[in-house]
Amino acid sequence: MVWSLRALPELTDTEFQQWSKLLEDRTGIQIAPHQRVFLQTQIAGRMRELECGDYNTYMNQVREGLQGMVEWSVLVDRLVVKETSFFRHRPSIEYVRRLVQSRIDNQALDDSFDVWSVGCATGEEPYALAMAVNDCFELAAIDPYFGVTATDISLPSLHKARAGIYPARKVDHATPQERARYFCPAGQHLQVVEKIRDRVCFTHGNVLELGKMPAVPMDVIFCQNVLIYFRRWRRREILNHLVDRLKPNGVLIVGLGEITDWNHPKMKRVGGEEIQAYQRSAPGAAKS
Ligand SMILES: C[S@@+](CC[C@H](N)C(=O)[O-])C[C@H]1O[C@@H](n2cnc3c(N)ncnc32)[C@H](O)[C@@H]1O
Repeated sequence: MVWSLRALPELTDTEFQQWSKLLEDRTGIQIAPHQRVFLQTQIAGRMRELECGDYNTYMNQVREGLQGMVEWSVLVDRLVVKETSFFRHRPSIEYVRRLVQSRIDNQALDDSFDVWSVGCATGEEPYALAMAVNDCFELAAIDPYFGVTATDISLPSLHKARAGIYPARKVDHATPQERARYFCPAGQHLQVVEKIRDRVCFTHGNVLELGKMPAVPMDVIFCQNVLIYFRRWRRREILNHLVDRLKPNGVLIVGLGEITDWNHPKMKRVGGEEIQAYQRSAPGAAKS
C-alpha cells in the first residue's frame, strides 16, 4: 500500500504523554487530553510523508542532531495555532495609537519608537501595529525612527509574513482608509505596502528562550493569543521577563483575560477594561 494511504496506529497513553511533554518542554504549549486526536493526526501526517511507521522512531529522529532540529521546525509548525488577522483586537491597537499620539503631543519621544510583537504568526499583528504608529507620525509630519520586531517559533509563518501577501478576508477588520493607505493588489490577494513592510523585522524566536532574542529596549510589547496555551506559572514567568525588555514608561499589552493573577512591582495596569495593558514605571516615579 502507498504510504500516503497507510493507517498508523493510535498513540498509546505513554506515547501521548511523551509527545505532549516534548511539545511543552520545547514550546510551552500544553496539550489537553481532548486534543489527543489533533496531536496524533499532525504527527502521523508527517510520519506518513517520511514513510515512518513508528512513533518512537520518529521521536528519536526529531530529537537527534542538526537533522532533528530541522525536522522539529517542520513538525512544530503543524502543532501550533496560527490563527490571526489584521487589527484582530482593535482596542489594543488603538491604545498603541493613543500612546504614540500622547508622546508626540507631549514631545516625549525618544530617538526611536520600538515595538515588539511576540508570537506574530503570519505577520498581520506587527503590520497592523506598524500602520497605527505610522498614521501618527505621518499626521504629525514627523519622521522619527520606528521599527517593529516580530518573532515567532514557526519558520513557515515567518516566511509568509515577510512576503506580506494576504487573502482579502484577513483584512476584514481594517477601515476603508487603512485598506486604501496600506494595501495594494497582488493578483487575487492584497499586499502590505513596502513602506510598512520595511518597518517590520521578522525573526525566529522562542518565547521560552527570551535570553536568545534581541535585547533592544521596547516602548511597546504586544503578546496576544500566545500565552493562553501555556501553564499559568509559565505565563507569569514570561511576563516577568518581558518587563525587563521594556523602556521606562514602556507598555506591555496581552490578550484580554489571558492572565488574571499577575502583578509586578514595576508595572501598573493602564488603559481601561477593554484591554489588558501594563505600563512600566519610570525610575524615580512616585509610588501611589
Ligand atoms: C494564535 S497565534 C497569535 C498571533 C497573533 N499574536 C494574534 O494575536 O493574532 C499564536 C502564535 O504563537 C506562536 N507561538 C507558540 N508558541 C510559541 C513560542 N514558544 N515561542 C514563540 N512563538 C510561539 C505560534 O507559532 C503562533 O504563530
